[in-house]
Amino acid sequence: MRALAEAAAEDLLSGSQSDALSGEIEVPGDKSISHRALILGGLAIGETRIKGLLEGDDVLHTAGAVRAFGAEVERLGLGEWRVRGAEWQIPAVPIDCGNSGTGARLLMGAAAGFPISATFTGDASLSSRPMERVLGPLRTMGARTEGSTLPVTIHGGGLQGISFVNEKASAQVKSAILLAGLKASGAVEVIEPAPSRDHSENMLRAFGCDVETKDDVIRLSNQRALRGTDVLVPGDPSSAAFPVVAALLVPNSRITIRNVMVNPLRTGLFTTLREMGADLQFENERVQGGERIADLTAAASELQGVEVPAQRAPSMIDEYPILGVAAAFARGRTVMHGLAELRVKESNRLAAIIAGLQACGVDAREEGDSLIVEGLGGPPAGGAQVQAHHDHRIAMSFLVMGLAARQPVSVDSAGMIATSFPNFVSLMQSLGARIG
Ligand code: S3P
Repeated sequence: MRALAEAAAEDLLSGSQSDALSGEIEVPGDKSISHRALILGGLAIGETRIKGLLEGDDVLHTAGAVRAFGAEVERLGLGEWRVRGAEWQIPAVPIDCGNSGTGARLLMGAAAGFPISATFTGDASLSSRPMERVLGPLRTMGARTEGSTLPVTIHGGGLQGISFVNEKASAQVKSAILLAGLKASGAVEVIEPAPSRDHSENMLRAFGCDVETKDDVIRLSNQRALRGTDVLVPGDPSSAAFPVVAALLVPNSRITIRNVMVNPLRTGLFTTLREMGADLQFENERVQGGERIADLTAAASELQGVEVPAQRAPSMIDEYPILGVAAAFARGRTVMHGLAELRVKESNRLAAIIAGLQACGVDAREEGDSLIVEGLGGPPAGGAQVQAHHDHRIAMSFLVMGLAARQPVSVDSAGMIATSFPNFVSLMQSLGARIG
């Protein structure tokens, strides 16, 4: 299945030095919330209407999966979807999760609650990513599992409760356990080492399941039946990150991005950029559909290197590639701590960021789980073809670098951008970015 917009994006793209970026845009709906809206809708009694759904490849795979489990999933218009939940059935074919770790892990949790067997598959990248972090707790709850990387088969049903100490601040693991727990007997709780994004908790509450959060413990209440509801998906801060950093780096730029989610468990990048001296304003902050949103205005800024603490990593885990690019332009060294998880994302992002920066003339290295970037206090050379390793965020990050580097930067496997940000190229072009 392909994204509905710009599905056939060229695999080789370049970003070239651009004149000042300007304009007002909205970025597509949040990916984390989009997956959850489809899955919770597919589990709920009655109808769920979703507006602003991200129609990227990752989420479209989840839509197909929820349908394959027996829910009615219908596209009514751009970003507008209707889901009618069902008791999940054995799917006729393996569940293809594409490139999406979130889709795979959350769907495994949800499916484990039903007395069915299902096999999950994915692309080459997803098939190399660790699944044991979810399968272990699901087995503790009573599921049987085969395989530790995709393809994985889960035999679910008859689950018991669990008190799970999540060693990583992983929202995917937490969410898989909570979704499985909806059908479990007994207490279900997850203890987190540090807070991870809380969209599952917020959305479960909106669907009528009372989730308690007390300090580091997240516990399902006994009221676990879900009722369909309306979901309005806010703009994805992880997508907004790319035009924001582009505006900071391209001289004389000023852009506004409307309706961006600013849940504090997602805004670590914006906090860090401000510490670096970024002119980045949040205006018109309000709550919409249970999530805090704002309009973001970013203007070209001189950045300083900073030290980014490990505790901040969960709130910006997907934003290190674009922060690495911003750090290359900053004056002085930027050190980012606590990045072990970057090695098991859509690519080994730690290695991909370093290789890309080095190819563009930037001194970057890893020490333990830290990334160190020696900022140039101005534009790096660029002039390289960077390997994106089929990773959407690596591709977008280095295209942004090309907009302000001295020479163009090209990336391979740029087609993967459609997994999370299908209209990235046209939206950036509408601001004046030279990407093509
Ligand atoms: C996500 C959680 C994060 C993040 C991913 C989306 C989610 O992964 O990197 O892009 O929607 O729950 P981890 O839970 O592995 O940290």
